[in-house]
Amino acid sequence: MSSQPTPPAEPHDPSHPASTGAGRGPGATAPTASAEPDRTAEPVLSLEELTRVHGTGAAEVHALRGINLDVHPGELVAVMGPSGSGKSTLLTIAGGLDLPTSGRVVVEGTDLTTASRKDIAALRRRSIGYVFQDYNLIPALTAAENVALPRELDGVGSRRARREALVALEEFGLEQLADRFPDEMSGGQQQRVAIARALVGDRRLVLADEPTGALDSETGDAVLALLRSRCDAGAAGILVTHEPRFAAWADRVVFLRDGSVVDMTLRSSAESLLAGGAAQ
Ligand SMILES: Nc1ncnc2c1ncn2[C@@H]1O[C@H](COP(=O)(O)OP(=O)(O)O)[C@@H](O)[C@H]1O
Ligand SMILES: [Mg+2]
Repeated sequence: MSSQPTPPAEPHDPSHPASTGAGRGPGATAPTASAEPDRTAEPVLSLEELTRVHGTGAAEVHALRGINLDVHPGELVAVMGPSGSGKSTLLTIAGGLDLPTSGRVVVEGTDLTTASRKDIAALRRRSIGYVFQDYNLIPALTAAENVALPRELDGVGSRRARREALVALEEFGLEQLADRFPDEMSGGQQQRVAIARALVGDRRLVLADEPTGALDSETGDAVLALLRSRCDAGAAGILVTHEPRFAAWADRVVFLRDGSVVDMTLRSSAESLLAGGAAQ
């Protein structure tokens, strides 16, 4: 950090003109003004005193050490931190893909630590969209079939699932890719299809683990614009990223180190913090 005195961070006052969301996101591709997240509403995701220990005995790794985090409707939270700081562990637990060692994970009012496996599976299909760094599209399915799959798994008839998939692809400007297989698409196209798949059916919680990892910054911005617009429409999102450029699309940035939150900053002050080297 600079040794020079810095002005106090701007208060996060929703009535403040600088806090209306205008100009959110970096550069010319930033979306237009959007509503502030409603932090008085019930959080979509609530992590309470979350811990996760991997392994046992001498091999024990404390991946998370007491994380508290709420994500509200309309809010996109960026999680940053060095490799091994627990970012992916946090995301997999938030997404019901892994359980914590202690603490609570509440998604849309359901505590995943006490819910049945069946209820967790239903919640994952209906409410949670997960975007992986390596896309994880199914190679034998076209883009439209990949996007339709979670809806079909959720019991939606295949014609309706396909119709919804085409709408989702169109929403993201990807309709021309509908009948292409993953190996006929660029990395950026595959990632945008993966995001369409994560968001189809109006999921309320979107979790993305370095979704821009293999993408150039322009394509990465296009991916972030999709996440941002879905959050502006009322979803809650967590984005794991190493790039300040992409974190700048978020409403808040949470910094992890050795499994603990070491800093949390609102977007208005995130850029100065990032410039100060808080993220490594
Ligand atoms: N399945 C696992 N078994 C053992 N250790 C793990 C496992 N998953 C993650 N870890 C360890 O937990 C810590 C946090 O990992 P991770 O959440 O992947 O961090 P990040 O995503 O920030 O790089 C690391 O020390 C990692 O080696
Ligand atoms: Mg990771």
